[in-house]
This record gives sequence, structure tokens and C-alpha cells, in this order.
Amino acid sequence: MTSPKQSSFWHKLPRPFQVLAPMEDVTDTVFRRIVAAAGKPDVFFTEFTGVDGLCGSRSHIIGRRLIHTPVESPLVAQIWGNTPENYARVAHRLAGQDFSGIDINMGCPIRKLTRKGYCSALIENRNLASEIIHATREHAGHLACSVKTRIGFRSVALDEWIGFLLEHNLDALTVHGRIAQQMSEGSADWNAIAGCVSIRNMHAPNTIVIGNGDIRSQEDIRRRVAQSGVDGVMIGRGIFGNLFIFRKDGVRYEDLPIADRVRALRRHFRLHNRQWGGDRNYHALKKFVKMYLREDAATARFTDAVLNSRNYEHGMQLITEYLAQAADPVEKTERRPV
Ligand SMILES: Cc1cc2nc3c(=O)[nH]c(=O)nc-3n(C[C@H](O)[C@H](O)[C@H](O)COP(=O)(O)O)c2cc1C
Repeated sequence: MTSPKQSSFWHKLPRPFQVLAPMEDVTDTVFRRIVAAAGKPDVFFTEFTGVDGLCGSRSHIIGRRLIHTPVESPLVAQIWGNTPENYARVAHRLAGQDFSGIDINMGCPIRKLTRKGYCSALIENRNLASEIIHATREHAGHLACSVKTRIGFRSVALDEWIGFLLEHNLDALTVHGRIAQQMSEGSADWNAIAGCVSIRNMHAPNTIVIGNGDIRSQEDIRRRVAQSGVDGVMIGRGIFGNLFIFRKDGVRYEDLPIADRVRALRRHFRLHNRQWGGDRNYHALKKFVKMYLREDAATARFTDAVLNSRNYEHGMQLITEYLAQAADPVEKTERRPV
């Protein structure tokens, strides 16, 4: 079985490659630019974006999730929904833009969505999953087509589900090593991910397999790739523990001087405000504060103050005051660009 797209961008990446996971309300264009500057992954994903929304009257609002700049490249647009016609329309539209691929979300376990048959519920609705993949691929033009999923819905279903997906000539398949009912509980099962690679080797050698779940360091990447044989790894929450996680030189974000981290936080606030203004809630920014400051005794009061700040102006005022106070000669000689 030869894929017509085996020369997709996925096939040209270095091995093992590193992907920044799609994370709703986290990996928007602003955060992707921050990560690109801190330590660039080989591939970026957008937040998941509903095809029904993109085809409806609020498409100008939903479509903000797909805003991007050339820095965040290669970029895969992740979409979800369960109307094949809308996948076709959206794929056609995306094919006219500068994305590298389209990814179909068949992994999100949130009950609000799975109750209506969306995302990981497709694991138990294979006919519809198949229709969606065909509709997307047919209209995706030159874009690579991939799926992100889990190892099962109620129980591990490698042959039934992963084997089934691998019959679809996908360019790439990302497997998060948990079943849907687990949500984020327990540990990701990398032996199951190794099982997916075995199925791929036997039945779909042209499909790239990406492993996902609980990777926190470059050392974890080496260990998991050796254990499973995946072509690349995807990292989500690990970025919060170390903004430099994609760097191969072992530098940890927490090793930076505090003032540099606060300046980086200021840059994030400014970029967010410039990009979104009042469109995205200021409080959504606060989830990033601890990524920059961590549980640091020296910054505990400042961190609390920023977390309790009322609005953008108030947050920026606190940051400016902190930096003015911290501007001593030691900090200045230690300055390094982030
Ligand atoms: C806040 C948050 C938002 C997420 N949003 C998405 C999403 O939009 N699309 C998706 O496929 N997965 C989403 N995920 C799942 C992650 O992409 C990833 O599969 C999961 O976090 C496991 O990887 P990790 O252990 O490296 O974090 C999200 C996860 C988190 C924590």
C-alpha cells in the first residue's frame, strides 16, 4: 500500500522529532511564538477548532484559533466535529492557506463533547471516523492528513482502533497512551504505544507514528523513543515545567535569573495584549505566570500579586515595579536574552 503523500512534511523531519501538543486556551499564536523563541519544536499544532463553528455564522470568532505567523512553522491545523461535509469544506479552505497539515481530533475525552459523539467518541463510531478521514483527505489538497487519538475509549483497543485507523493511509498518527475514560489520570502507557508502532510496521509502514503522554525532559524523550520505536514525540504539559524543554543543550528554564524570567513574562503579557486586546480574557493569561516564576520563595509574593491582578494594566504595573526594584548591578551582569 503506497501512500500518495508519503513525501509529506512529516516524512522529511529529523528523527526523533519533537512536536508541541495542541492545547486549548494555551497554544495560541502568542504562546507558539514564545515557544519558538525559547526553544523551537519541529512541529506546532493549533488549538482544536470546530468545523461546524468554522462553517457557521460565528466563523470569524472561531477562526481566531487558526491565526498564525510564519515563525510557528510547520503548523498543523487541528479540527474536530462529526459532520463530514463540514470537514470537506474546512479542509478545502485550509488547503488554500499556508498550513503544513490538517489533524483530526479523535482523542479529546471531555464528556460535554463525547456525549454528542465528538472527538474520542469516534473511537466507538468507526464508520463515521472513516467518512471524516475520507472527506478531509479528499479536500486537503497538498496538505498532510493526520489523526490524534487515544489507545481506546473504555478499554485498550489497539488492533480494533489503531489498526483500523492505520488502514486509512494517514500521513501521521499521534497516539496519546491513555484510554478516553482515563482522562488525564494514571500514567501514559508507552508499552501500548510500542504496540501501535508494531501494528504500523506490519500494516502501514508509510504512516509516521508520534507518541504522546507524560514526557517531561529530553531524557524522557530518549527513553520513550527507545522503548516504543516512535518516529517522534509530542509534548503538552511538560512545557509548563520547563519552557526550554525542546532545547537539546540541557539548559533548564528555572536556571535563568529571576529578572530575566520576569522580563519574559512581561513580553508574554505584551504579545497577548497586542494580539488579542480585549478579545481573549486577561485572566486566561494567568495560567502562564507560574511557568515563568515557579514555586520560588524569592518571588512568592510577587507571583501572588500578579495572579490576583485585576486587568492587563494592573498586571503590567506590578511587573514594572518589580523590575525597577530588582534592577541591581548583579542582575544586570547576569542578563541573558530569553
Ligand atoms: C489545557 C489542555 C488543553 C488541551 N487541548 C487539546 C486540544 O485542543 N487538542 C488535542 O488534541 N489535545 C488537547 N490536549 C491534550 C494534549 O494535547 C496531550 O495529548 C495531553 O496533555 C497529554 O500529553 P502531555 O502528557 O505531554 O501533556 C489538551 C491538554 C491540556 C492539558
